[in-house]
Amino acid sequence: MRMGYDQDLSFNYFGPTKIVFGVGSARDVEMEMASLGGTKAVVVTDKGIIKAGLVDPVVKTLGSKCAGVFSDIPQDTGVEVVNAAAEFARKGGADIVISVGGGSVIDTAKGMCILITEGGTLRDYNGVQLLSRPQIPHIVIPTTAGTGSEVTNAAVIMDKEMGQKRLLVENNNIPRLAILDPKMTEKLPPLLTASTGMDAMTHAVEAIHSIPREPITDALALHAIRLLYRYLPVCVQDGSNLHARGQVQIAATIAGWAFGNAMVGIVHAMAHSIGAVAHVPHGIANGILLAECMEFNLEDSADGYAMVAEAIGMREKGMDDMDAAKAAIRGIREFTRKIAHPQKLSEFSVKLADIEKAADMSLSDGSIVNNPRLVMDASEVLGIFQKTF
Ligand SMILES: [Fe+2]
Repeated sequence: MRMGYDQDLSFNYFGPTKIVFGVGSARDVEMEMASLGGTKAVVVTDKGIIKAGLVDPVVKTLGSKCAGVFSDIPQDTGVEVVNAAAEFARKGGADIVISVGGGSVIDTAKGMCILITEGGTLRDYNGVQLLSRPQIPHIVIPTTAGTGSEVTNAAVIMDKEMGQKRLLVENNNIPRLAILDPKMTEKLPPLLTASTGMDAMTHAVEAIHSIPREPITDALALHAIRLLYRYLPVCVQDGSNLHARGQVQIAATIAGWAFGNAMVGIVHAMAHSIGAVAHVPHGIANGILLAECMEFNLEDSADGYAMVAEAIGMREKGMDDMDAAKAAIRGIREFTRKIAHPQKLSEFSVKLADIEKAADMSLSDGSIVNNPRLVMDASEVLGIFQKTF
């Protein structure tokens, strides 16, 4: 059983994003933009967010400093979308990007920052950590609380021509500022609140069990877990509770710092794969798979899960690490029921053939190499999928 950190522990922690938090803080965007040297901002969002009335106040605050609003962004962004958005920003003379949205919008904006700064189109960038200088500043105003993308160096962009997702990983392209305004997540419906929250919970738990975990990422992940455990059920019950909404936003962001440095493992490898094969939404897949994957990792991550048990108040007096780890798994299972999260993949018209295909795909997903238990064979992954089917 793994115990604590390696004797020869060494790591880099990088989390350069400034955070501005508070109800109504989205109105500070113009002032914050000036402090980053921005004079003309392109606002990136999607049509649903405009319809929800979340973009208008931002545009009004910017006044003549708004170079235009680009909103032609689908659920899963793609290469052509990013190319078109960057062209739109260039034409408008933008020197700063402000994204107002969830994962797809933020990832589009990350891609745009590269094209505005370096030129070309997205297909010119094949590989990771290619950029040698900071990119045009990017301010994120998240409208979901889950992805953590507002503080990470990664973006996922679909390339339909290549038939695969492109992964951009650039420390020189981490958003410079995230404005966490609880008002921006107030209207998220209960299921989306629960599933995006389970994405954040999964980031935190995976940061705890991942191989590159270290004390800073553990600290961030554990507090994210505490906040989610306490406040996510409140948000699901009563979306208008802005205090709870704010705490969950903070949890999602600090879980982003945790997994942005410690990475994620088998849960994300499986969620990416079942998402690609059967279009199960990312947060939902994570929420369904998390406890079963913890079960799979139990022998190799009992010390980490024991800390999770402490964070959620499931560690009772006299429990050793293994007992506490099992209690943590029980706690996560109960938690998903408490927030009325879906329990089975078959609820999302996933078929047996889909999980077989997804099990194979999971083995070549980049996240699986950071999982504490070595995964040698697709049948091991299939076993987990079957239990959650
Ligand atoms: Fe995720």
